[in-house]
Amino acid sequence: MDWQKNVSLRHRNTFGLDSQTRYFAVADSTEELRSHLRRAIEEERKTFILGGGSNVVLPRDFDGVTISLGMRGVKVDSDPDRSRLRVVVQSGENWHSLVRLCMGKGIFGLENLALIPGNVGAAPIQNIGAYGVEVSEFVDFVEAMEVKTGRVVKLTNEECGFGYRDSVFKGELAGSLVVTAVGLSLHTRPRLVPDYPDLRAELERMGVTKPLPADVCEAVIRVRRRKLPDPRFVGNAGSFFKNPIVSDDVLKRLQELHTDVPCFKRASECKLAAAWLIDQCGWKGRRCGPVGVWKHHALVIVNHGRATSDDVLRLAASIKESVVARFGIELSVEPTIV
Ligand code: EPU
Repeated sequence: MDWQKNVSLRHRNTFGLDSQTRYFAVADSTEELRSHLRRAIEEERKTFILGGGSNVVLPRDFDGVTISLGMRGVKVDSDPDRSRLRVVVQSGENWHSLVRLCMGKGIFGLENLALIPGNVGAAPIQNIGAYGVEVSEFVDFVEAMEVKTGRVVKLTNEECGFGYRDSVFKGELAGSLVVTAVGLSLHTRPRLVPDYPDLRAELERMGVTKPLPADVCEAVIRVRRRKLPDPRFVGNAGSFFKNPIVSDDVLKRLQELHTDVPCFKRASECKLAAAWLIDQCGWKGRRCGPVGVWKHHALVIVNHGRATSDDVLRLAASIKESVVARFGIELSVEPTIV
């Protein structure tokens, strides 16, 4: 269980950012993770936990130890509630492979979350969501290791404090826990959520009037392939900003000036489309040196070449400035900036 020295992480982050870590370690089991964490504490080294690397902006140099989570395994258990199944998945499993596996076994719920890059361990941290579904709807528990003690704890759904692209793992417990496994409660019978506008339109285009889970899954894959860049070919970390949540008053003020502002209402609040705000500022398809804004979706910053985190963060700051200047709205960054 040696630590490798001076390792490039360029091929281990979907942004493809040039980044080098002083030490690199792989944890294929919770025991290995515990011993890497213990050694890092003993040697007083900073740690960074790497999953699929799909939602991070890595620095050019990281002067600590990067621990890559490789724990694998999927266990399907029956549930006393016969309409449900419990699926316990280790952190290092690929998210989309899990979605495919569930589809193949007739386990339902995850269709709308197809093709999201990254590993299972990251899913509850940012509460991944797409096309009207969030993973928090299915999380039964999250198993995590305390960094300081190496103890494995189990958090209930409630204890995870889920919100829009948010959880305690990003908030109050950030840096103190490493997610090691996720327990999902999924359906034995189809429960479709096909109403997100893009998804509806795609199903129509496919000529499907009574969708089955496989149709929804296929439609999601088609929409994502068309709108979002494939990280194998164009480096990116998905949506770079969160959709801002604003009050009714702010929405009214905006609508007086822009009648067509897209928003999703929830009680007395409203989620605005950050992509629309950025698009209106003229950023879509613009290039700034090695980075740019994706030509088919204004919420995605892309790496056109050998970009570093400085290039990405400079562009993100310019985008934020122009959105504040034009709309008075402050965008917040979605991926983790290491
Ligand atoms: N829009 C524009 N210009 C664009 C793109 C979109 O004006 O270039 C407008 C669209 O017309 C639409 C609105 O913005 O009215 C929303 O766009 P979209 O449906 O693509 O969704 P989004 O809010 O931009 C969110 C998630 C995505 C997820 C989609 C679909 C966040 C931060 N992003 O994007 O998640 O796939 O909804 O559910 O919530 C990710 O997190 O990496 C991600 C891709």
